[in-house]
Amino acid sequence: MRSLEWVFVAVALVSCSSPPKSSERPGFGQRVTERDLAAWNIDVRTPDGTGLPPGQGSVAMGKDVYDTKCASCHGSDAKGGPMFGTMVGGIGSFTTNTRVVTPGSMYPYASVLFDYVRRAMPLTAPQSLSNEEVYAVSGYILHLNGLLPADATVDARTLATVRMPNRDGFIVDDRPDTKAARCMRDCEPLRRP
Ligand code: HEC
Repeated sequence: MRSLEWVFVAVALVSCSSPPKSSERPGFGQRVTERDLAAWNIDVRTPDGTGLPPGQGSVAMGKDVYDTKCASCHGSDAKGGPMFGTMVGGIGSFTTNTRVVTPGSMYPYASVLFDYVRRAMPLTAPQSLSNEEVYAVSGYILHLNGLLPADATVDARTLATVRMPNRDGFIVDDRPDTKAARCMRDCEPLRRP
């Protein structure tokens, strides 16, 4: 949370440059609590699923969620629609010249799917789904990719146990420009190569 506090300080300093009228002044002096931040603090540590919320949803329920809230853009059975290509299949295609990128073929961990859907989908109403709906619709998409049975119920534990086909397909990007050290105070000036 420290970095968020710094963002807050930075915003406060910027707003000092043109003093607002007293009625518009921000409420200085009030410490941001974990509770205040809870709605934004939804990151999941995807390799082991730490941070996944309680709750569960079935593949069957996920189909209902999908048909109601996703199919208009992603097409029926997630095979592609007006806004996005297929979210099914392509598994193993990364070693061919016709790569098909889907959650099933690309994501290294099933919890990536949960995290993405919870943050970003439906495109027109992000974060409008309940955690149960996100578990369910993630389970449905995994099922369509052949990674969960039709009668599966999905929760934090289930997601951690799904072995994604591309789990070992990622490499660490060790190019020199990715080695910048995190620094918030008295930082070295940026060195251009
Ligand atoms: C209004 C259209 C729209 C709706 C409704 C919508 N999506 Fe999407 N979805 C998109 C678009 C556009 C993208 C691509 C976004 C991007 O690449 O930045 C996307 C991307 C995705 C991806 C990433 C796919 C990948 O290959 O990594 C997933 C997963 C996804 N959507 C799931 C869902 C689910 C689940 C729902 C329903 C709860 C949903 N979407 C509803 C438009 C939509």
